[in-house]
Amino acid sequence: MKKQEKKQEENPSVGGPEEEILFTSLRAQTWDDFAGQKNIKESLRIGITAAKKRKEAIEHILLYGPPGLGKTTLSHLIAKEMESNIKITSGPAIERAGDLASILTNLEQGDILFIDEIHRLNKVVEETLYPAMEDYALDIVIGKGPSARTLRLDLPHFTIIGATTRIGLLSSPLRDRFGVIHRLSFYSPQELEAIILKAAKKLSVPIDRESILEIAKRGRGTPRIALKILKRARDFVQVKGEGKITKELINDALKMLEVDEVGLDSSDRRFIKAIIDKHAGGPVGAETIASTISEDVGTIEEVIEPYLMQIGFIKKTNRGRVVTKIAYHHFGLEAPKEDKKQQKIF
Ligand SMILES: Nc1ncnc2c1ncn2[C@@H]1O[C@H](COP(=O)(O)OP(=O)(O)O)[C@@H](O)[C@H]1O
Ligand SMILES: [Mg+2]
Repeated sequence: MKKQEKKQEENPSVGGPEEEILFTSLRAQTWDDFAGQKNIKESLRIGITAAKKRKEAIEHILLYGPPGLGKTTLSHLIAKEMESNIKITSGPAIERAGDLASILTNLEQGDILFIDEIHRLNKVVEETLYPAMEDYALDIVIGKGPSARTLRLDLPHFTIIGATTRIGLLSSPLRDRFGVIHRLSFYSPQELEAIILKAAKKLSVPIDRESILEIAKRGRGTPRIALKILKRARDFVQVKGEGKITKELINDALKMLEVDEVGLDSSDRRFIKAIIDKHAGGPVGAETIASTISEDVGTIEEVIEPYLMQIGFIKKTNRGRVVTKIAYHHFGLEAPKEDKKQQKIF
């Protein structure tokens, strides 16, 4: 089944082509290289083994979670384990139903179609996808007006792997057509350490333990960010000719990337600062903050907030988001007294 990997454009929303090449070269090639996400790995391995035994295509899989946690990497690993061809596309790249039809009719039995940013598929394309996913059939309309007829084309049994950072934007009919749905979670510092160590070896860049720990601590629980820091630090090493990554170089790299001591980036900081400065630390509704910082509510809920909640910088209450004491202290500010806040509210 395995042919040369057919590769189309990849993940247009993330970084430039140069960055993408770096990440591709560092991409985990085996299950062992892929750190963390233990339950997801386990469940996928079972599904793959069973599908291979039955000589069937694996069920359609939906992977979701914040950017940089390994959705694309996992999809490639699944294809590799299935010994299948993987064809790569993305929601916005499939503009018309005809584009989808030509992709689908070119698939072979057992092939995997990876659709990145699947939440950005347009309605017409999405509806064409339903019977394709469910019955491996493509309904084509021939002719126009009263004489129009629908022709049903059979498709080979293939697998769709969809990836999204914005599960909330997926319609339920589309979501329901995936047999397997996994949410990727943030990585622990220990898991990031393992990832950094492996990547440093691959890049043949000497790094001491202290520096690895530092990157892991500041990586925002996200392999892509940890690897970005490592790569910048490596650039500094090469320019300065010091030979080894040190904590100072990492600090320089972090400054350049605008990542702070706990791994927050500029949008994280803008978000928290807006709640503190404009909404007295909250509680404030997501919609209101969204308009304060001109950001999309979904991006706030699915990309920015999950990590901030994980590290205890914000809390969700039924009246809205509240910035915690820890976050105030992180910005060198005094948290407002609880009773003062109460007075303000009532
Ligand atoms: N669990 C993991 N173990 C090792 N490297 C990982 C892991 N998850 C992601 N990476 C690395 O992080 C980078 C970004 O991962 P990617 O799959 O592109 O994320 P996503 O598609 O979720 O945005 C890649 O270089 C990838 O190799
Ligand atoms: Mg991706």
